[in-house]
Amino acid sequence: MSIQFDEKQKIFKLDTDGTTYMIGLSPEGYVGHIYYGKRLRSPGGKYCLRMEETPSPSVKKREKSSFLDRFPMEYPTGGIGDYRESCLNVRNEQGCMGCEIFYKSHTIEKGKPALEGLPASFGTEEQVETLELLCVDPVPQIEVILSYSVFAKEDVITRSVKIINQGQQQLRLEKVYSACLDMDNMDFEMLSLCGSWARERHIQREKINYGKRVISSAKGESSHQEHPFMALLTPETTQDKGEVYGMHFVYSGNFTAQAERTQFDRIRAVMGVSSEEFCWKLAPGESFQAPEVVLVYSAEGLDKMTHSLHDFYREHMIRSQYKYKKRPILINNWEATYFDFDTDKLLDIAREAKKNGIEMLVMDDGWFGKRNCDDSSLGDWYVNEEKLTTGLPDLVKRVNEIGLEFGIWFEPEMISPDSELYRAHPDWAFCIRGREATQSRAQYVLDLTRQEVRDYAYECVAKILRSAPISYVKWDMNRQLSDMGSFGWGEERQQELFHRYVLGLYEMQERLVTEFPDLLLENCSSGGGRFDPGMLYYSPQIWCSDNTDAVERLRIQEGTALLYPLSSIGAHVSDCPNHIVGRVTTFETRGHVALAGTFGYELDITKIQEEDRNQIPQQTELYHKYRELTQRGDYYRISSWTDSKPYDCWEIAAKDGSEALVTFVQVRAVPNMPGRNIRLKGLEAEAEYRLEGTEEIYQGEELMYCGFPVKQMQGDAVSCLYHFVRL
Ligand code: DGJ
Repeated sequence: MSIQFDEKQKIFKLDTDGTTYMIGLSPEGYVGHIYYGKRLRSPGGKYCLRMEETPSPSVKKREKSSFLDRFPMEYPTGGIGDYRESCLNVRNEQGCMGCEIFYKSHTIEKGKPALEGLPASFGTEEQVETLELLCVDPVPQIEVILSYSVFAKEDVITRSVKIINQGQQQLRLEKVYSACLDMDNMDFEMLSLCGSWARERHIQREKINYGKRVISSAKGESSHQEHPFMALLTPETTQDKGEVYGMHFVYSGNFTAQAERTQFDRIRAVMGVSSEEFCWKLAPGESFQAPEVVLVYSAEGLDKMTHSLHDFYREHMIRSQYKYKKRPILINNWEATYFDFDTDKLLDIAREAKKNGIEMLVMDDGWFGKRNCDDSSLGDWYVNEEKLTTGLPDLVKRVNEIGLEFGIWFEPEMISPDSELYRAHPDWAFCIRGREATQSRAQYVLDLTRQEVRDYAYECVAKILRSAPISYVKWDMNRQLSDMGSFGWGEERQQELFHRYVLGLYEMQERLVTEFPDLLLENCSSGGGRFDPGMLYYSPQIWCSDNTDAVERLRIQEGTALLYPLSSIGAHVSDCPNHIVGRVTTFETRGHVALAGTFGYELDITKIQEEDRNQIPQQTELYHKYRELTQRGDYYRISSWTDSKPYDCWEIAAKDGSEALVTFVQVRAVPNMPGRNIRLKGLEAEAEYRLEGTEEIYQGEELMYCGFPVKQMQGDAVSCLYHFVRL
């Protein structure tokens, strides 16, 4: 039993293998947070609700206003005197904002119900248990269901919230966040992932000062710039020491993650759909389901959090049959040809690819309408027969005959002003009446909040997939949302568009994976602009960044792998000088870095230097050899390169300690450098390991505690793999 209720003390105790989460009820029925952290054996700690605290010694009686502003709320509501950040703001028919919820009843069930219309984690009755707390605000008669699902083995607890209008009034939900953590401040630092296009998800850490620190996206997607994740860390947390509280949002649109340090030196951390440009009309009888937040706690530093999340996403979020399957090594023609290709060119690439061990050809942007650059044809999803002269089914057939699978690129959510679709349906693009919508990459966004638009866009994709044996789709999305006006909804629903857009997107992807269950889907958004757990529910891999430079990728992939399993991180070997930063790195290093992801190629294999091409068969062999380890093993950050420590190193260790693969990248050569010793992790201390390709034998404990001296290397951006195998 992961969830217990102590009737006498009114405490709910949620246990994972290594953590405990406790919720307590005040005498009035306020739902309070008692504890989250290391596993506790006893259901004590109710004093943490701080029922006795008063604002000053002179105030004897516990007054509601002072109580509300200190009580550690599980789900704070706005407008009634808790001045910290609220999670739920409800406006009534009279135009007033205020809401207050009290515990009414609860259920504890094995398993976990799905969240209607939303991606969410799942598990069997043996793997997960769910607590639902039914709370009510008796004034407008709103029911608020707080759900907690406990995944014991992975040390993860997920939360979500459902609001039901049981009264007679038309209500407006102005904010519905999904989770709150009210805790004592332990001098917390915040870790978050930040970046930009081609520079996604760099790790940053900062001290949390008094006030509010917000991470958010208002771009209609989870974004390149900020990531729907934050962790609170005790000071000096390292990879294997320190306490870590992680919150990760299973959502692909606008979000807010905020840590607030309050006057009483407590921390309130909240996460949910952004309340900016959000207002949901809730008529009597209607309900609103908020997306899920994944909570993870580690008492053993960041590595433990990473392992919990990797295991959790692999087992309980990725549904695709490809989760642990060997993914075909693909070659994508984007950096090879951009828009300038035809059937012959693609077949030339396919033939050369086949000779070198590549298994799939992916035809990227430019195969449809009259798209010869990025300024037209999105929406016109029929084959450009000037390029693909014998049609798509014939091309697929010929690629298959060469011995490769075939994959294709779509951008189903977009519409070019220069397209037949736009000329026929200008009202299908988001647009504010009377105002010319802003173009980005010469395109508008299709109004996916409307069923007929979704049906059209979906059918375009599905028709192509039905026409030929296509094994893979890259679903791209190359601009962020603006000009949010819909011709399909009245004035009172316009503030629902951002969220409805995401729901529409989820509906389309659900249809796709249902109709084509064998399809390998890779999501993408101008590189890694929509890399989030929501998309992982539909696609087992996501394109990580348009930046394929091996050095830039070190930080991008390290930040991404902080949360996501390596098997989900789209990574390709591309040509040099790199198209984005112009850097030249060795072909070998590019291969080693891409091996820490899905692995593939993105170059013109018919044109690259022969000595590079000659390395491809060995690289593809390495992929086959380490694929299983990479997909299932535990990933450890050993060294993150900085200017003063110019080398990067990570390790993937088999869960049973039977082998470990270490990748070492010397980012910059430094003269007169002392030897570098790498301490391995995740090995069996008493076992012996052979360094593959040598006669060298090491004791597990030596490798972990004394370290392993990596060989001296010459040059910048050079790398080496070390494979240790238990004897
Ligand atoms: C952005 C993607 O990230 C690229 O890989 C490529 O597919 C282009 N879009 C095509 O327009």
